[in-house]
Amino acid sequence: MKNTDSKSHLQGKSIYLDDIPELQGTLHGLVYDSPVAHAKNVNIDYSEAEKLAGVIKIFTYKDIPGENQIGAIIQDEPLFAEDEVHFMGQPIAFIVAETERIAREAKKLIKFNAEELPAITDAKVAKEKGSFIAPPRTFKLGNLEDGKKKSKYIIKGTTESGGQEHLYLETQGSYAIPKENQSLTLYSSTQGATAVQSITSKILNIPMNKIEVDVNRLGGGFGGKEDQATPWAVMVSLAAFVLQKPVKMILARHDDMRMTGKRHPYTAEYTIGLSEDLKIQFYDIEFTQDAGASADLSPAITERTLFHATGSYFIPNTEITVYSCRTNTIPNTAFRGFGGPQAFFAIEAALQKAADEIGVPVREIQFKNLIKDNDEFPYGQIATETEAIHSWETTDKLFSIEKQYKEVEKFNSENTKFKKGINITPLCFGISFTNTMMNHARALVHIYQDGSVGISTGAIEMGQGVNTKMKQVAAYVFGISIDKIKLETTNTTRVANTSPTAASSGADLNGKATEIACNDLLIRLKDVASKELDAEVKDIYIKDNFVWVKENKTDLSWDKLVQIAFMQRVKLSEKGHYSTPDIYFDKTKEKGHPFAYHVYGTAVTVAKVDTMRGTYDIESVDIVHDFGKSMNLFLDKGQIEGALIQGIGWVTMEEIRFDENGRLLSNSLSSYKVPDINSVPKSVKVEALESEGHKHAILKSKAVGEPPFIYGQGAYFAIADAIKAFNKNYKCDFSAPMTHEKVLMGLYQK
Ligand code: MTE
Ligand code: HPA
Ligand code: MOS
Repeated sequence: MKNTDSKSHLQGKSIYLDDIPELQGTLHGLVYDSPVAHAKNVNIDYSEAEKLAGVIKIFTYKDIPGENQIGAIIQDEPLFAEDEVHFMGQPIAFIVAETERIAREAKKLIKFNAEELPAITDAKVAKEKGSFIAPPRTFKLGNLEDGKKKSKYIIKGTTESGGQEHLYLETQGSYAIPKENQSLTLYSSTQGATAVQSITSKILNIPMNKIEVDVNRLGGGFGGKEDQATPWAVMVSLAAFVLQKPVKMILARHDDMRMTGKRHPYTAEYTIGLSEDLKIQFYDIEFTQDAGASADLSPAITERTLFHATGSYFIPNTEITVYSCRTNTIPNTAFRGFGGPQAFFAIEAALQKAADEIGVPVREIQFKNLIKDNDEFPYGQIATETEAIHSWETTDKLFSIEKQYKEVEKFNSENTKFKKGINITPLCFGISFTNTMMNHARALVHIYQDGSVGISTGAIEMGQGVNTKMKQVAAYVFGISIDKIKLETTNTTRVANTSPTAASSGADLNGKATEIACNDLLIRLKDVASKELDAEVKDIYIKDNFVWVKENKTDLSWDKLVQIAFMQRVKLSEKGHYSTPDIYFDKTKEKGHPFAYHVYGTAVTVAKVDTMRGTYDIESVDIVHDFGKSMNLFLDKGQIEGALIQGIGWVTMEEIRFDENGRLLSNSLSSYKVPDINSVPKSVKVEALESEGHKHAILKSKAVGEPPFIYGQGAYFAIADAIKAFNKNYKCDFSAPMTHEKVLMGLYQK
């Protein structure tokens, strides 16, 4: 079953925000943003810009009828800066003109005056100065002192992982159309339709029911549009509301890169202890997160770092702390993995360093400590239905781990111009929003009188194929073909109070809600069929668009059945509501059962380094992944491949750089390198682990969006392994990304 969008994508007929036909009189907006990273007494002269022909109005905080506040978790972020600015790229004003070109001309005429202040661009400096988003949080299990007593080997180290630009193909944008009685229709390229609606309501000081947010699909989000699609939508709404004209804005790529947040850079300091038999006895780690200038989603991201700090391992004694630091850079935000990847990178770095110092292969330590049933996670959840060992062993069976190590060794003994390295990356990723309250969803299912079906849910299609999965759920429950089903736009008027499509849980939450609604409808239809066919309800089912009784296909088609039901005035619309059962978390104790289930897997990565140039290729990645009972292996494998390459990009070439004044240097695709076709591993093999699936996963098909991002880290460790094969003096600093320059330095490190 392919993605049902494939054909229209290929034909260029899929509708994205900028494809919506513009209404006559549509005005265009452009953001005027701070040219400095930190300043007070901001005083701006708009007089020349306002005089330019075609400029309609320049909006500032003074024009906001409601509250100038867009912070979702912590109210620390104004829509428009007032008398202080806190990062370069911070929105200060919104220029509305007849065309975007005129707005760009006007922008050049604005004069910025302010008293510049020193900028903090390094989270470590922020930490020293006590500049935090929120107080630090700590998760604890067992007792570090006990762990120390049992440890023969105690290793200390540091790790560092960089930011990452989302680079969704479709940049941020929104289009607002005023409607009667002070209401608005708002098209937004957002993962969070309700977030856009509620913040717009706050800024405009009108109730949420006046604002209809509609989303057809996104040209990618990757977390970058979970919260940070909101300001642009609110700006066009404000202008449309005040001017009573349609207003649109699509960010130019350069503006998007300059003004939107990225993955959080992290540093960490840890101590890890192992007993003689290589069992990890304790892990004490302190993360420093660079949140940027305001909170955005950082507190939630902090939380997922805490949850994933021990990676795929059981560690009886742990203490994990995260400091979320406020700096004068763009507020960082959700990005595939949501604070998880940074934690996985740190634990794998710690194990690698321990293995190097003890003088054993890291895979021995990894395998011995994999999480298994009844082990306790540092957050109190007891591991059940674990697949970590199973997926490692399956990987060995299907991809011969030891043989691959031997081949790498053999290659290295015969070659000096090139060296190979190898790494195993195990995966254990928790599924559910870490904030329990967000784990719910609704679906609205209409069966039209001709038998066709229309479904609305809170899920947003961003390329991951959630619409295809929703159709599959309805087709499965009803026993009808996919082509009878249409997925409607995601719309806050049809489905209200949505959680963002995020945390890899879009298909689970909205799929379960769809399943519930479809099942309710099916009960009614079976009842109608039972009377029509004079058969018992328990013997009736629908398959291939026809009603069956026991093993016999009847003449009663789905379409006919629906028609009869309609004539009998049976309710053919239903709403389903789902909230994940069995999850809770007590923040006062930092203990609970936050995840519906975990996703497991194992990846083997082989890299080849050119020892003269410092360049590298990823030769192969072999993956065994726990899809549960995949409902769509085609889509799910696509998610694995995409996440893998995105993960490889993060740890190898993608390097976000700011200068000391807080100016983003990597602000275009000529200064920010992303994986291209040549960076794709020469061979990527993905095999499905045979597993039961989980009852909280939609049709037992486990969530797949974010977890495989972790596999990409294997590239870092495989490259480091190759460097070591060339240079025995090489001491890896466990700082990602592993750029070509860094590899070259490593190859010739003394
Ligand atoms: N795949 C594509 N093609 N485009 C995207 O933007 N976002 C990822 C992942 N896969 C994304 C994607 C992220 S960050 C998440 S949380 C999940 O999809 C969200 O969708 P799901 O909950 O339906 O898996
Ligand atoms: N994951 C992704 N996005 C989120 C989460 C989460 O756990 N919580 C809030 N937004
Ligand atoms: Mo994904 S980072 O949860 O949008």
